[in-house]
Amino acid sequence: MHEVFEAGLEPTDACPASLGRDELRYRLRQQSLLGEFGSIAMQTRDLRKILQQATELCAIGLQAPFVKVLEYELDEDRLMVRAGVGWALGTIDAASLAADIGSPAGFAYQTGQPVISNLLEADTRFRMPKLLADHGIRRAINVLIERGGGGKGFFGVLEVDSADPGQFDQDDANFLAGFAGLLGVAIERQQADASFQGALKHQALLTREMSHRVKNSLTSVVGLLRVQARSAPSQEVKNALEDASSRVSTIAEVHDHLWRSSHVGFVELADFMTELCKKLRGNTGKNTLHCDADPMLLSADHAIPLGLLINELVTNAVKYAYPGGSGAIEVSAREINGHLHVEVSDQGTGLPEGFEIDLPRTSLGFKVVTGMVRQLRGHLTLSKDRKGTRFLLDLPILSHPDESTPDGRWPESRGRYRKKGLRGSEGQ
Ligand SMILES: Nc1ncnc2c1ncn2[C@@H]1O[C@H](COP(=O)(O)OP(=O)(O)OP(=O)(O)O)[C@@H](O)[C@H]1O
Ligand SMILES: [Mg+2]
Repeated sequence: MHEVFEAGLEPTDACPASLGRDELRYRLRQQSLLGEFGSIAMQTRDLRKILQQATELCAIGLQAPFVKVLEYELDEDRLMVRAGVGWALGTIDAASLAADIGSPAGFAYQTGQPVISNLLEADTRFRMPKLLADHGIRRAINVLIERGGGGKGFFGVLEVDSADPGQFDQDDANFLAGFAGLLGVAIERQQADASFQGALKHQALLTREMSHRVKNSLTSVVGLLRVQARSAPSQEVKNALEDASSRVSTIAEVHDHLWRSSHVGFVELADFMTELCKKLRGNTGKNTLHCDADPMLLSADHAIPLGLLINELVTNAVKYAYPGGSGAIEVSAREINGHLHVEVSDQGTGLPEGFEIDLPRTSLGFKVVTGMVRQLRGHLTLSKDRKGTRFLLDLPILSHPDESTPDGRWPESRGRYRKKGLRGSEGQ
């Protein structure tokens, strides 16, 4: 324990510091307050609350009506009141004390030693600070608050004051120094946490910025492909360029949702599906396209292949389901027992005789579809129990390996991926 600088009345046999109180109970109470503060400080990230709690518990521990935490302000070279009990309204964040050794708090700050003054007005070491004089303070005890409990610089001073004629003693100084040690660790932890949160926010900002730029670049590619399609020498080339532009525009759509999303790296599926279907409706002709999705979050790794897959299946339905006529095309995405069930269906002519999903073929469409299913580690089946065509994709979403997000938050759990209040269905 530090050497204590003391002045004023000394405890004597005739006038012990503990006169009139149960010393053991008093010290045990101080121990339990230290423990109480330790657990409070570990549970909150709000520095204000931590400082305020410290002052309130110290007031109880030292049975003193005035306590304050002073933070050293380099620009002013003063100790600013940041939290406290007992002081007049408007003191916190407004009143400050000199940081030189002429004030009791300044002395503790400059020397690092606990300072007890049991008779301030007669203590030749110090001027009486105005704040203390205004509150009739007679005695004070000050200890340094070191950041991180030592070696990481100094935060300020913890000061306990009283207007009563009693005495602060060495054990009180020890209690207060212990408190200041805990407070220093809590301050350091809170500040490290704040800078970590700042770094995460910055990283999230950069990630969003990147998605925004990717989306803009892809939108330019879409524009170029469309221009090229318009001047294509044959219908076949024109169709191929339009299909390519549609695929790229679907990926751009995911990136557009990524940078807007409240969870970095995740898209809100219902919103995404609504927008994707809106885009696809631009090419559905007289057919109607109805989309319905559960409100949930989907990682970018899932959203891009899923978007491409829906794009292919809907494009196929538009092209082949209702030759010479029109009809309905349905897309739905449901979360069932940790799996995402996506269904794309129509009530058209049905697939050609002998059609199998995995058969090797020259067309690109189903190669993209099967490639995306593999990438998603999903399972695609073709339902043959009804008129038209119905594809069912079963996707195990909760087996995704990386569930944390760059902004430090976790997608809400189980749904870990489920968001409340989002429902995106839009028919036409
Ligand atoms: N909803 C559907 N209804 C009827 N037939 C379909 C449907 N979807 C696909 N088909 C048939 O399956 C075939 C294979 O589809 P796929 O997407 O692989 O090729 P594509 O659409 O002809 O060419 P690409 O997609 O490469 O432009 C189609 O040519 C079509 O005959
Ligand atoms: Mg196709």
